[in-house]
Amino acid sequence: MTKQSAILSAPTSSLLIEVVNGALVIRHWGAPVLGENHDIATASRTSIANSSWDEPQFPGLMRESARGFLGRPALSGHRNGSAWSTKFEVTDFHHQVNHCAITLRDFHAQLEVSITFDLDTFGVLTQKATLKNIGDSDYVVNEFIHWLPLPQEATQTLDFAGRWSNERQPQRRDIQTGTWVRESREGRSGHNFSIADIALTAQTSFQSGSAWATSIAWSGNSHYLVERGFDGQQSIGAGELLLPGEVVLASQETYEAPTLIAVYSSQGLDGISSAFHSHLRARDSHPKRPRPLTLNMWEALYFDHDENKIKALVDVAVQVGVERVVLDDGWFHSRRNDRAGLGDWVIDPAVWPQGLTPIIEYINSKGIEFGLWFEGEMVNPDSDLYRAHPEWILHEGDRIPPLWRHQLVLDLGHESAYNHVLEQTSAVLSAHNIVYIKWDHNRTLVDAGHLGHAGVRRQTQAIYRLFAELKKRHPGLEIESCASGGARIDLGVIDYVDRFWTSDNNDALERQTIQRWTSQVIPPELLGTHIGPTHGHQTGRTLELSMRAVTALFGHAGIEWNITEATPDERKHLATWAAYYKENRALLHSGKSIRVDYPDEHGYLYGVIAKDTKKSIFAYVQLTPTGAIHPAGLKFPGLDASATYSVKAVYPAGKPRFMLISPPEWMQGITMSGSALATIGLTAPILAPANAFVIEIIKL
Ligand code: DGJ
Repeated sequence: MTKQSAILSAPTSSLLIEVVNGALVIRHWGAPVLGENHDIATASRTSIANSSWDEPQFPGLMRESARGFLGRPALSGHRNGSAWSTKFEVTDFHHQVNHCAITLRDFHAQLEVSITFDLDTFGVLTQKATLKNIGDSDYVVNEFIHWLPLPQEATQTLDFAGRWSNERQPQRRDIQTGTWVRESREGRSGHNFSIADIALTAQTSFQSGSAWATSIAWSGNSHYLVERGFDGQQSIGAGELLLPGEVVLASQETYEAPTLIAVYSSQGLDGISSAFHSHLRARDSHPKRPRPLTLNMWEALYFDHDENKIKALVDVAVQVGVERVVLDDGWFHSRRNDRAGLGDWVIDPAVWPQGLTPIIEYINSKGIEFGLWFEGEMVNPDSDLYRAHPEWILHEGDRIPPLWRHQLVLDLGHESAYNHVLEQTSAVLSAHNIVYIKWDHNRTLVDAGHLGHAGVRRQTQAIYRLFAELKKRHPGLEIESCASGGARIDLGVIDYVDRFWTSDNNDALERQTIQRWTSQVIPPELLGTHIGPTHGHQTGRTLELSMRAVTALFGHAGIEWNITEATPDERKHLATWAAYYKENRALLHSGKSIRVDYPDEHGYLYGVIAKDTKKSIFAYVQLTPTGAIHPAGLKFPGLDASATYSVKAVYPAGKPRFMLISPPEWMQGITMSGSALATIGLTAPILAPANAFVIEIIKL
């Protein structure tokens, strides 16, 4: 066979692929490789070690035992016990600029794998794979994992764990010999889903060092793996976690593995987030309209749907400058609390005797858009739907899964169940001026059988199909992905939705960390960030409005608070904050997000720098009481070093609570060069804990 190889290159990274002895080998994924490199294959050949193979082995990305590989293979499956071990050979290899498509076949196992690699200009690698059964008998797929090699400088991994109201908390650990697996078995991506698995060096920080990030584009069960063999080779992988028998390919059928999105950065974790953000922003489906300031009424009303209360809330929303109002849970048939009604997507005349049209018209007459809540994948046993079709739930045998928030999961794998949800939700949308839906998913899938077989994959595909169909039928409709807060935020569902509800926790102090790490992958304009009530409903904490407002500014901003209870002063501050958000959202939603490596563990310093570096908006947040008298200085990387900037503190919703006699002078305005701001910086004022303010940096 002639030599087949390809190098895919972006300004920040390269991928070098080669066919060696018929195997598909990834020689390099990392820093850009330049020049002619004919001898890389020779340079990469290992010694012949004691007690080892007589010839170097090149298992390639299929990682097969037949090619001397002793770790976890990419593909695992069988044909009624046979075809359990494969030896794929590359049979087609097409390379064009930054796209490479390869077909591998194993004529003995009668399988074909088609793999594509695409590297975009931002350094984001998209890896897809399809497995086809080219034999006559059924082939059972146990798993297919996308793997990428990791160099040995990658000594640690960073991933994210969490729970309700505390999503995406970072955990960092050393890579050691063995296979480390992070599974998500909730049937939705989950609060505990790792939105990315990132390998890094021990020194990698936000601003510097190497990082190799992977993110699996899937909302069902999944797993991330990091494996270090005793031969010293290490790799990072991810794929769908298939339940037993979930995918059985009949002759000529295919299994399309969820896509892997991967990024290498030599510029730390912010290099990773910048690449993800740019990649996501370049999608055709990325929202183009300015992100409307949103009032979600859940925490203002809960189930107390009362037209007059809503009108009063809307009247204040108008004064404040709200552009979209969302009616949350409780509007549909018999839904007076969370024990009944899910599944019956018809307006409840008991609460809405005239239907929803009058309230929508009232809201629209104020120049405000209207959005509505659904949770179409769920059903309460106390619902007309369940009474009529108890067999439409995901279940196994004659068992009923344990209840969770008094609800069960509707099996969208049943075409009739799917059509019920589609037609009922679609009818509500057709009958009203609804531009936006908040689509919730408040429980996990367990024992999730579809007609005697595992049904999570089918369910995941069904919700993607349903979202796509709703958007097709209702052009311009925006969908928010919510799942008890942020339990369905992933790069699979992202192509069907326009916003994520980041967390149910509206406590601004907690939100600081949740937003910080969710934006590791997701750009801020897709993250719902709302000003919560004065006394947080989740934590009970009382926070300054200025702190809540600064926190909510860095995302798709909104309000989750009964603002009829806000004082005149608070309403005034909400209005100035809303105006500030509108004035600056173009920048906040297109610029480069920066998380400064702030040396003081008691604070965060982060911001967004406009693409042309003409304006930046930073936030300084005092999380906990400062240790020393003066917190560490504030330094601003990423500006134009030679340019001169005017810098000042701004207070979109009033001043923070200071703990000082007088604040630093610069806060009223100062002029400095980009390089001085990066190297010398500014002194930080002494704030009371849980306080924040904004720093505006404008090029002169
Ligand atoms: C969970 C969501 O995260 C909340 O915002 C709210 O929509 C409730 N569900 C409603 O039941």
